[in-house]
Amino acid sequence: MNNEFISKLNDIAEQVNLYLDKNVASKDNLQKVVYEAMRYSLLAGGKRIRPVLAIEAAAVFGITAEKVMPFACAIEMIHTYSLIHDDLPAMDNDDFRRGRPSCHKQFDEATAILAGDALLTMAFEIASKGAIEADNVRGGIEAVKHIAYCAGTEGMIGGQIVDLDAETRKISEKELIYLCERKTGALLRVPVMVAAAVAGKENTSEADCLLEYADTVGLAFQIKDDILDVEGDINVLGKPIGSDKQEGKTTFVTLHGIEGSKKILRELTEKAFKACDRMRNFCKTEKQKEACEFLRELAVFLLERNY
Ligand code: IPE
Ligand code: IPE
Ligand code: MG
Ligand code: MG
Ligand code: MG
Repeated sequence: MNNEFISKLNDIAEQVNLYLDKNVASKDNLQKVVYEAMRYSLLAGGKRIRPVLAIEAAAVFGITAEKVMPFACAIEMIHTYSLIHDDLPAMDNDDFRRGRPSCHKQFDEATAILAGDALLTMAFEIASKGAIEADNVRGGIEAVKHIAYCAGTEGMIGGQIVDLDAETRKISEKELIYLCERKTGALLRVPVMVAAAVAGKENTSEADCLLEYADTVGLAFQIKDDILDVEGDINVLGKPIGSDKQEGKTTFVTLHGIEGSKKILRELTEKAFKACDRMRNFCKTEKQKEACEFLRELAVFLLERNY
C-alpha cells in the first residue's frame, strides 16, 4: 500500500483514539469497573474504519474532521459495544478480540453486557452534545437520528438477529445479503449519512455517490471478514478464526467458496472505484479531491487487509 495513505490512515485513527480516550474517561467511583471494561474494549486498537469514513466523507463535503468527530466517535463506540455483545457465549462465543481476551473473559459476562450497554448509552450522550454544539444544530440532530436508526432494529441489531437465524438453517443468498447490509453495512453507511447531515448535503448527488461507495464497501467488508474467518492468522487478525464454522453459520464462504467470495470482493471493489470516479466530478478544491483519492485507496486497503 502507498505509504502516504497508510500514514494518513494512522493519523486519523490517532485523532480518534485521543478523542475517545478523553471523552470516555475512567472514574474512581463505586461503578469504576464499568468504565474500566468500556475502556478495555474501546481503546484496544480497532482499525477505526467507521470514524475514518465519517471524517473523509466530511472532507469530500468540504467540512473539517472536528465537525463530525463526536458523531464519528459515537459510531465507533456503538461498533465496539456490538463487538462486546457479539463475542458473548449467547452469541458467537469468542474469547479473543482486538488482540486480547474478549471483554467477558477479562471481566465477566454481566460486566461485559453492562459495558456494552454503557458504550451505547454514552455514544448518544456524546453525539447529542455534538449536535447541541454544532453550527448546524438541525443537521446535528439529523445525525443523531441516523445513528439511532442504523444501530437499531432496521440496522445493526436487525442484522445480528437474522445472523443468529443463519446458525439454525441454511439461509439464501438474498437473505445473506439482507443480513450483511444490516449487521455490518448499516454502521459503515451511517458515517456518510452523518457527514452529509452535518454538512447540510443530504439528498444531493454527491451524497448519493458517497452512499453508494459506503454500501459497496460495506458488503465487501463482511465478505472479507468471512474469508478472514477461514484463512486469517489469529495473531494478525486479533480474533479467533474458524468461529463461523464452529457456529455452523451460513456465510459468503459457505455459499460461494473462498475463490468465489474473492471474485465477488474484487467486483465490489471495482464498483466502489466507479462511485469514487463519479464523486470526483463534484470535488472542487484540492482537499476534496485528496479525500476522494483517499477513499479510493481505502477500498483497496479493505480488499487487501489481513486484520
Ligand atoms: C469487525 O469489524 C466486525 C464486523 C463488522 C465484520 P472491524 O473489522 O471493523 O473490527 P475492528 O474495529 O477493527 O476491531
Ligand atoms: C459481527 O459480525 C458484526 C457485528 C458485531 C455487528 P461477525 O460476528 O462476523 O464479526 P466478527 O468476525 O466476530 O468480528
Ligand atoms: Mg457475529
Ligand atoms: Mg462474531
Ligand atoms: Mg466474522
